[in-house]
Amino acid sequence: MAEETLSNLLQEDRTFPPADEFAAAANGTQELYDQAADSDAFWADQARKYLTWDTDFGEVLDWSEAPVAKWFIGGRLNAAVNCVDRHVEAGNGDRVALHFIGEPGDTRDITYAELHDQVQRAANVLVELGVQTGDRVAIYLPMIPEAVVAMLACARLGAPHSVVFGGFSADALRSRIADGEAKVVVTADGGYRRGKPSALKPAVDDAISGETTIEHVLVIRRTGSEVDWTEGRDHWWHEALEAAEPTHEAESFDSEHPLFILYTSGTTGKPKGILHTTGGYLTQCAYTSHVVHDVHPETDVYWCTADIGWVTGHSYIVYGPMALGATQVMYEGTPDTPHKGRWWEIIADKKVSVFYTAPTAIRACMKWGEEFPNAHDLSSLRLLGSVGEPINPEAWMWYRRVIGGDRTPIVDTWWQTETGAIMASPLPGVTAARPGSTQLAIPGVELDVVDETGKSVPDGSGGYLVIRKPWPAMLRGIWGDLERYKETYWARFPGLYFAGDGAKKDTDGNLWVLGRVDDVMNVSGHRLSTTEIESALVSHPKVAEAAVVGATDAMTGQAVVAFVILRSEAVSEADEKGEGAELVAELRNHVAKEIGPIAKPRQILVVAELPKTRSGKIMRRLLRDVAEKREVGDVTTLADSSVMDLIKTGLDPAG
Ligand code: WTA
Repeated sequence: MAEETLSNLLQEDRTFPPADEFAAAANGTQELYDQAADSDAFWADQARKYLTWDTDFGEVLDWSEAPVAKWFIGGRLNAAVNCVDRHVEAGNGDRVALHFIGEPGDTRDITYAELHDQVQRAANVLVELGVQTGDRVAIYLPMIPEAVVAMLACARLGAPHSVVFGGFSADALRSRIADGEAKVVVTADGGYRRGKPSALKPAVDDAISGETTIEHVLVIRRTGSEVDWTEGRDHWWHEALEAAEPTHEAESFDSEHPLFILYTSGTTGKPKGILHTTGGYLTQCAYTSHVVHDVHPETDVYWCTADIGWVTGHSYIVYGPMALGATQVMYEGTPDTPHKGRWWEIIADKKVSVFYTAPTAIRACMKWGEEFPNAHDLSSLRLLGSVGEPINPEAWMWYRRVIGGDRTPIVDTWWQTETGAIMASPLPGVTAARPGSTQLAIPGVELDVVDETGKSVPDGSGGYLVIRKPWPAMLRGIWGDLERYKETYWARFPGLYFAGDGAKKDTDGNLWVLGRVDDVMNVSGHRLSTTEIESALVSHPKVAEAAVVGATDAMTGQAVVAFVILRSEAVSEADEKGEGAELVAELRNHVAKEIGPIAKPRQILVVAELPKTRSGKIMRRLLRDVAEKREVGDVTTLADSSVMDLIKTGLDPAG
């Protein structure tokens, strides 16, 4: 499949150089590539240019304990002060930090001065609830400004936040709270989703019932829905902030002080708590917001549509743009509520100039039709960005033509939760863009594509995407599991960071990311682990065994397809009552309950056997062939090669 996509991609030779006017005003220039030749000196310059340090650093990079890096040794700073206070001190307190738009249509503009007030009060509230430097705080919220306030209040205290996506289930929240041993959780009564309130507090009550490390719950009132209340444990956010001291003196933390943990799916069932620290992370976020997203804080209105529950929301809603003092849009809801032109209406209304979204959203908008964007004035847009999965050249072309008015550059940015910030992208004022290619490592970063043995492949060939040297925003490990960090990222190719993606270099040296080569799926830009969903399925009393694959899907990039073997009692019951469809619905809901609705399989196929090698390993490649309705590949390594016939015959009658 990868080869097929690739040959299509490699025939893609349209290029789009930036307009002269754009290039002349762009923050990112050709010189950056030259300056980055001495990468330590380069990153030291960026760290001093973009951040305010309370104590300057000495050594730039300490790699003596590789693969755990230390950046900007001895430097001290406060991330929240860098994102808020210093903009107020510089006289920009009246600048809007957030144009918030709720799904029901309520709006709130929050200036940097107001944000400053809120963050200080929230920091004081957390202190009163017993949060100390180093304690973890879980954040489980919809896309509302308080999410940003809560994150920055944690940063201000040096209390690492662990944001859990509001779409995750109570069980997923429970395991993340337990792994990070969070002391406080910040949540809301609910948020608005697809036209109606969607509750959050009940999931928190459930997640912290029984044994838990959580001592207090701060609850933001968003929907006004009834909530259960535990006196002494639960506190209303608005009451607590109102009562709190309005000022809070921020402390400086070491450059390597932990800033946050963010859980992401890996190849095993257990999500990994990716650990990021302060100075290096913030440097690379600010630098990339400036040179890749070309944010000009005085004039731009920037909008990243990601949820703060994902790394894109951390780096490109909170830390990057706010370190620059940018003005941005924050929107609570879905792009099609109450109508399919909602995003474009917001862009026209707020005069958004830089827009950053995901290919899956672009494909959905393509499907809905051009009439929706065409009904709005999108002439304020001057730069578009894409992230989360490979963007098909057709989607890229549509994005540029329909949304960008055939005028705007597009930056296709490759990076990961683990990399913390953008690693590969065109520079919008420099690079002649190629639809579908993420093109080049940004200045200061060294990427490569290697073969099975770790040897660099020549231009025109494919292999595994690796990172050749440490970068400031790199993860500092997996929370509580250093061995797993080494094993996952550094064992495959000694001395190289293995990203888990396949990629190819074209004959011009441009990078084409092809997608994951491990057991991680990418569904609508969300990372899901096959093993995690398999474990969820097997935890259902009627399931004996499960195998999950990511099948290519025109809309979501990949879709979850599950093959399950039922326990014998369940098989006869389903047969007798003719309840096959009901059972499948029950299993899909079970996965939603265990992990979250985003993990629901598109399809669940009940089978009698699964294809296994002689050593008992499930051959997902063959199941993917079935799921993608292809001729089934080589079955010679199967312990029993008739299994695939059995699966196919079993499925055929149903189509
Ligand atoms: C994929 C999201 C192709 C890739 C920031 C990576 C991409 C995973 C791109 C990380 C892109 C991200 N082109 N693939 N521009 N951006 N990916 O951790 O497979 O949620 O490994 O971080 O998304 O997903 P994560």
